Amino acid sequence: MSTDVMIKANALSKRFGNHRALDNVSFEVRRGEVVGFIGPNGAGKSTTMRILTCFISPSGGSAAVSGFDVFDDPLNVRRSLGYLPQRAPLYTDMSVWEYLRFTAEIRGLGEDTFKARLKKVVEVCGLAQTLNKDIATLSHGYRQRVGLGQALIHDPPILILDEPTSDLDPNEKAEVLKYIKEIGKDRTILLSTHNLAEVEEACARAIIVSKGRVVADGALDNIRSKGSRINYTVTIDERHAEGGHQPPSAKEVEDALAKLKGLQGVKELPTDERAHSFLLSGAKDTDLRAELFRLAVQRGWTLLELRRESQSLDAVFKDLTRRDEKLDRGDDWSGAYDGAEDEDEDEDDEDGEEQSAGPDDAAEGKN
Ligand SMILES: Nc1ncnc2c1ncn2[C@@H]1O[C@H](COP(=O)(O)OP(=O)(O)O)[C@@H](O)[C@H]1O
Ligand SMILES: [Mg+2]
Repeated sequence: MSTDVMIKANALSKRFGNHRALDNVSFEVRRGEVVGFIGPNGAGKSTTMRILTCFISPSGGSAAVSGFDVFDDPLNVRRSLGYLPQRAPLYTDMSVWEYLRFTAEIRGLGEDTFKARLKKVVEVCGLAQTLNKDIATLSHGYRQRVGLGQALIHDPPILILDEPTSDLDPNEKAEVLKYIKEIGKDRTILLSTHNLAEVEEACARAIIVSKGRVVADGALDNIRSKGSRINYTVTIDERHAEGGHQPPSAKEVEDALAKLKGLQGVKELPTDERAHSFLLSGAKDTDLRAELFRLAVQRGWTLLELRRESQSLDAVFKDLTRRDEKLDRGDDWSGAYDGAEDEDEDEDDEDGEEQSAGPDDAAEGKN
């Protein structure tokens, strides 16, 4: 293993009874990377993190942190990482200072080291004004900062943070994220979340898991390019038309757009303007803008807006994790039992193995 690989998961699997929570999960995180570990609830993020932090053992596969095997060398694994579990076990009757001192003691830090570290932790996590307050009196946002402080007290090179911003209000989220970014400047971080905006803000790379499997791993740009469609926003004035044409109704616009070759989906968008606005999707590597422009000219429509953009990370995420969702809902049943084809399923499958997000997803996923 290269010395630069700080976290290595190798074919991890985990069963809880009959339930397979992890299925052959492999990935590496290199020194200095801040990696978003993303997936829907139940995907296996916490299970993976609990294996990496030696809280549970895998049913199969192996894992190493900072070069130390989680089976053979759990003490060194724990020494090299700080861990903020999804539900941080804070002792609410302690003050922040007491709690941090307590965690430092457990970590075996001497008094002087603790003092020096505390100064740094207080600075990095913004805890100066809360040190003497009881944890019970703190807001969620401050509690998470204390949790971060606890994970950092022994100055570990690696941090494993399990949904550190869930349950926080938008301001608190932004704050905690700011501290994580600060911390990430000189550390390796694996950060789980189901909030993609956070990943886009704090991470250059993401690993997407779904139902216990890794479905994507790479730079965010690469993951975005896994999207199989390109979206277009088209807005047509509903009041004016040129060349003796009548102003078009929404239905006319939709029907004309739907006939365009290469189009895969049309969806009307709400708009405040006196206009008809549509979200279209077409295959990746195509460009329908010239066609759309010509169509507008030919019909005498006034084109107020024409925009082409790749799928957002959100839409790709849904793309990659949706098949499992469909399986959960039993969508494959009818096909399996009587051979009847589900139209939706059929349409999606034309794009190959991976599901494609249609305009529905694109509409929600815009950012
Ligand atoms: N201790 C456990 N006992 C039984 N099932 C569990 C246990 N922990 C997790 N699971 C199951 O494993 C799957 C993955 O859970 P988890 O890793 O917590 O997902 P995530 O953190 O991505 O939301 C879920 O279906 C969950 O119900
Ligand atoms: Mg979890």
